[in-house]
Amino acid sequence: MSTTPLKVAVTGAAGQIGYSLLFRLASGALGDRPIELRLLEIEPALKTLEGVVMELDDCAFPNLAGIEIGHEAEKVFDGVNLALLVGARPRGPGMERGDLLEANGAIFTAQGKALNAVAADDVRIGVTGNPANTNALIAMTNAPDVPQSRFSALTRLDHNRAISQLAAKTGAPVTDITHMTIWGNHSATQYPDLFHAQVAGRNAAETVGDQDWLENTFIPTVAKRGAAIIDARGSSSAASAASATIDAARDWLHGSADDDWVSMAVVSDGSYGVPEGLISSFPVTTRDGDWEIVQGLEIDDFSRARIDASVAELAEERDAVAKLGLI
Ligand code: NAD
Ligand code: LMR
Repeated sequence: MSTTPLKVAVTGAAGQIGYSLLFRLASGALGDRPIELRLLEIEPALKTLEGVVMELDDCAFPNLAGIEIGHEAEKVFDGVNLALLVGARPRGPGMERGDLLEANGAIFTAQGKALNAVAADDVRIGVTGNPANTNALIAMTNAPDVPQSRFSALTRLDHNRAISQLAAKTGAPVTDITHMTIWGNHSATQYPDLFHAQVAGRNAAETVGDQDWLENTFIPTVAKRGAAIIDARGSSSAASAASATIDAARDWLHGSADDDWVSMAVVSDGSYGVPEGLISSFPVTTRDGDWEIVQGLEIDDFSRARIDASVAELAEERDAVAKLGLI
């Protein structure tokens, strides 16, 4: 075990996701290695964050080697090995999508520049804050010295949701569900793919044998799960989003399971017809902190149309932020 602390930045640390994420990180969810937390918030939220830090202290986590908090990205990100960008501006009353992209654009432009200037050479950056794919694109574009492969956006929550729905439908334990893929955007246009997924080694679509369920129940349930949770809870998913953020970071740093893959939104190299440079979700394998898009999957017309629709939305978001001068 390395005794050098892993320096992990979390933005939006006083928010809902932060309240779950920080305790999971500090209690060893990324492995048995000391961890130093670097927590970024906007100035008005620092008092709340101080309270969260008191609680972290009160847990006496053996591997928690230190905590720093602040509102200046260049100070907080100094030397970080992993940056989990969770904080984002939620859509307020009367805000159009363009306003949301602009408000978040300002955040992710500044954070991309700060990471470029002060993060460790081995930094990995995972974006959870919405619109996650486009926020990651903005941060990546504003960090020209950080390799593009070090940026990803979170679609692991969608991936986990898809596994859970398929397990419930088939009666299989979640551990029997493998090779799940979310394609495209972390939005209602995403495409959860059962044609390559497996249930206990058998093709999932064939095992289910119910195209109507696949098309009219499974896909919309997974794609609109975030909205269903907002409807039920009155606020967006938090503990499950934190859990997925951890799953994604852990697999990125330590490797995905042999003979399986995970979903991550990463910069496209043109694979599967996704335009180069877009941050889109793919099936990926990870090893030693690097990822690779799984190649050679056959994409039928049904899947093609759905991947294309989600990717078209990503291209629109990219064009909108380009117009705003953010990339
Ligand atoms: P929240 O509103 O409870 O917390 C967000 C925090 O970010 C707030 O404390 C706020 O002060 C902070 N913040 C705002 N601007 C900041 C900045 N410039 N620097 C640092 N901190 C800043 O929200 P939440 O429930 O924790 O969700 C956070 C984000 O995650 C939202 O954008 C949400 O839509 C998104 N989300 C994504 C997924 C996913 O799967 N990708 C799932 C759930 C939620
Ligand atoms: C989720 O998938 O739960 C969130 O991205 C929903 C949201 O809009 O915050």
